[in-house]
Amino acid sequence: MTPAIDIRRAWRIYETAAGYTPALRGVTLSVARGEFLAIMGPSGSGKSTLMNILGCLDRPTSGTYLLEGIDVTELSEDDLAHVRASRLGFVFQSFNLLPRATVLRNVMLPLVYSDTPPRDRELAAWRALRSVGLPEEHYLHRSNELSGGQMQRVAIARALVNDPAIIFADEPTGNLDTATGEMVMRTFRRMQARGKTIVLITHDPEVSAWADRTVHIRDGKLLSDEEERAYLAGLAAREAGGEKDGGIGGSSLSPAPTSPPRSKLLGVPCL
Ligand SMILES: Nc1ncnc2c1ncn2[C@@H]1O[C@H](COP(=O)(O)OP(=O)(O)O)[C@@H](O)[C@H]1O
Ligand SMILES: [Mg+2]
Repeated sequence: MTPAIDIRRAWRIYETAAGYTPALRGVTLSVARGEFLAIMGPSGSGKSTLMNILGCLDRPTSGTYLLEGIDVTELSEDDLAHVRASRLGFVFQSFNLLPRATVLRNVMLPLVYSDTPPRDRELAAWRALRSVGLPEEHYLHRSNELSGGQMQRVAIARALVNDPAIIFADEPTGNLDTATGEMVMRTFRRMQARGKTIVLITHDPEVSAWADRTVHIRDGKLLSDEEERAYLAGLAAREAGGEKDGGIGGSSLSPAPTSPPRSKLLGVPCL
């Protein structure tokens, strides 16, 4: 089966008054359908830039990108908007809900851009809200009357309402406490169990632990398979040695004896 995501040698160079910023520098990544992938990296490493490109909100300056086998770098703006509306869902750190609209209205919003007839929109929103476990008593509340965890579940319901194949989440637990964040991560796992592909960006190792696989980005580049192996071997060695401090990517990282030479990038601590 073609992968959900297949991006190769993607560069994204921002052009500003101050000059050129290469935010992505040759990213190659494949994500299988139904996979739950976490992308980790420090602030400024290119995570949001990558998500915007994977989510067809932006285009790479160069490189190829096949989304479910379709070359999206060749599509018009209208066609890209259609791909987004029909195949993709988005969840952000700051929830991005309309504060004074009801929960139900917020969740129905993406359907305005879809082929769903108006009479079916409310039912679809209702189903999406049920699937994220938000109690029905809240559906007619304004979204600004909810707690952070409830708001993020509404945002996930909004991402799900058009039954997307792929859900992109950029730091979805960034504004939540640990217990609420866990509840949100459990919601993503449930969505994966229903066949969704999930690409989640985080700088928190406890969050990435919920994913099937984690890739690391540094300065616009993903660590190579070899660098990832060395990184994991280093972590395992550290754990075996009983070291508890430092966190993932801490500068005390020591690679296993059999691992290839450690890249300079590996010493960079995750924020
Ligand atoms: N619209 C933009 N214009 C110019 N530079 C940008 C823009 N967006 C991001 N950048 C720069 O690109 C780099 C990567 O940013 P970003 O993708 O937001 O990283 P992250 O999400 O990992 O914090 C940073 O150096 C940032 O300053
Ligand atoms: Mg970001």
